[in-house]
Amino acid sequence: MSAAFAALPADAGGDAVISIRELTKRYGELVAVDGISFEVRRGEVFGILGPNGAGKTTTLEMVEGLSCPDGGEVVVDGLSAWPDPTAVKARIGVQLQATALFDYLRLREIIHLFGSCYGVRRTPAEIDALLDRVGLLEKRDSFADQLSGGQAQRLSIALALVNDPVVTFLDEPTTGLDPRARRALWDVIRAINAAGTTVVLTTHYMEEAERLCARVAVMDHGHLMALDTPRALVRGLGADAHVTFTLSEPLPLEALCGLDGVSSCSAHDGEGYAMVADSAQRAVVSLLDLAAARGLTIENLDVQGANLEDVFLRMTGRKLAEEDEEDERTDEPEKPRRRGFLFGGGG
Ligand SMILES: Nc1ncnc2c1ncn2[C@@H]1O[C@H](COP(=O)(O)OP(=O)(O)O)[C@@H](O)[C@H]1O
Ligand SMILES: [Mg+2]
Repeated sequence: MSAAFAALPADAGGDAVISIRELTKRYGELVAVDGISFEVRRGEVFGILGPNGAGKTTTLEMVEGLSCPDGGEVVVDGLSAWPDPTAVKARIGVQLQATALFDYLRLREIIHLFGSCYGVRRTPAEIDALLDRVGLLEKRDSFADQLSGGQAQRLSIALALVNDPVVTFLDEPTTGLDPRARRALWDVIRAINAAGTTVVLTTHYMEEAERLCARVAVMDHGHLMALDTPRALVRGLGADAHVTFTLSEPLPLEALCGLDGVSSCSAHDGEGYAMVADSAQRAVVSLLDLAAARGLTIENLDVQGANLEDVFLRMTGRKLAEEDEEDERTDEPEKPRRRGFLFGGGG
């Protein structure tokens, strides 16, 4: 781990709505969450980013009062979640499995039933308003099993809002959705946040964390690796961009590695080159100058900004989302894997 990631800003600095300290969960020998501490600021979209098995869901479930920690503490909106999570549960919204339980009910009936579980009686107008917030008003009389994957996820978000929560928790809300459904869901999440609800979400999609979250906690193997704004995390890399290109004739690597703005470089398949640039602009200008001076032609020039994927790779030596390609499915009716039901049951 580089020095840039050593200091974790555990203190949110502003008004913390969630505060966790030394939170730990073990399953037998496995330490699923290993003494992590962080705070979530009131009003932000906070992301927990990490690959499968990192401990994201286990962390959420301890904060939500669904899974008892083996150590540490959780405070939500000034209340301790443990040993008795009842008061915390009443103030939060948790995305859950709607489709498996309520296939025989209409959407408006599900919302009504769900409100009753919280002791909240929603009027028909309030139910319509809630469905409208997640873009499902026209589906109010449909059955849950008639929804596409993206629509089912939006219904589960509506259910996570039924009690006007202070914080809403979304566990991998867009996993398994196609890019169009994913973007639609991002818009819903942004709108919920803009209306004043703090959002805590988990994701293994780098782009989702980068685009949606004010701050991101990077987790791997139960550890908190880094926590900051996406921008600051990327800046901490000291790498600005990846520059790739081909040359009409081979060049010795020393000539490229020594260029202004370039921090490292490599050659591929004889004529393809890749450079990591600490300044994309200086690297490209010096590369063009070099090529002109030597009478070489540059082709296939591509500049890609550094991103959270690079941050994760640098910290762990592994890629974040190797399975991204294969879990993009179409927005056909489907049942995304969801977690246990807040009030028992589900699966
Ligand atoms: N109920 C359980 N029993 C045993 N091991 C579990 C259980 N739940 C999760 N784990 C393990 O804990 C680790 C973290 O899991 P999880 O929190 O689900 O990760 P993530 O949500 O980041 O994919 C994984 O190694 C997982 O296999
Ligand atoms: Mg998970």
